[in-house]
Amino acid sequence: MTATEMFLDPVQSTAPALPDAQTVLSVRHWDDRLFSFRVTRSASFRFRSGEFVMIGLPGDNGKPILRAYSIASPFWDEELEFYSIKVQDGPLTSRLQNIRPGDQVIVKTKTTGTLVLDALLPGSRLWMLSTGTGVAPFASLMREPETYAKFDQVILTQTCRRNSELAYGRHLADTLADDPLVGEEAAAKFRRYATTTREPSAHMGRITDLIENGKVFDDLGLPPLDPALDRVMICGSMALNLDLKRILDARGFTEGANSRPGEYVIEKAFVG
Ligand code: A2P
Repeated sequence: MTATEMFLDPVQSTAPALPDAQTVLSVRHWDDRLFSFRVTRSASFRFRSGEFVMIGLPGDNGKPILRAYSIASPFWDEELEFYSIKVQDGPLTSRLQNIRPGDQVIVKTKTTGTLVLDALLPGSRLWMLSTGTGVAPFASLMREPETYAKFDQVILTQTCRRNSELAYGRHLADTLADDPLVGEEAAAKFRRYATTTREPSAHMGRITDLIENGKVFDDLGLPPLDPALDRVMICGSMALNLDLKRILDARGFTEGANSRPGEYVIEKAFVG
């Protein structure tokens, strides 16, 4: 080996470090359409559980391809977790789905979002209503100690077309009791209610219909939504969000924001 070779670092010389780059630590594929991954977290990275951030990969022309992703891990976690769909011709997820441990992903530093506990008035029951990848911010909030400090009961609903799409949410719920910070409280307060719309399962139907016909409350043994006691967070498609907004507004709920807490908050589930 010559002296020159000793000083040449092949990784650095061919792939200069990306700005805002984090290193992929693990990747898990849940089905042919969904995967989650964990990346390193800078010591200076701050966010509130439930917020989202722009993440991505460098593009061919040097310009990064960035999309909004909810952070699926809580604020106290030393790593960051994300949950994504795989769109075969999607500019970002067609490539992001192939990441492996050791690869780099861009994670911008600015975080934001309305699915935060600060945007809700005090209440006794927290409903987190999601479809598909809309479960991601709730993956963060269900491991957030303040969630259990503020609410006596926490109910996560997730509706998907098929059973295989519910695997990530089921895994989160199944491992929650082992969580070092919230495990004990969550075991007493947290419940998951999963439904499918296009495949048979224990509970079937759109969450909008199950709220309107009261089946979700019968199944869980809980009273119907009451703005005096219940607080609701919603994360799904635009159509779902609008339908749930209409249902809650008709029941006397007011929408909250960071600047003005209310009885429910909404965010569109992001498509990578
Ligand atoms: P459905 O199968 O009846 O359309 P998508 O994969 O299209 O994002 O939908 C995710 C889940 O959300 C599906 O189970 C779908 O039910 C349901 N869904 C879609 N739109 C609405 C809506 N406006 N209200 C309630 N549920 C919805």
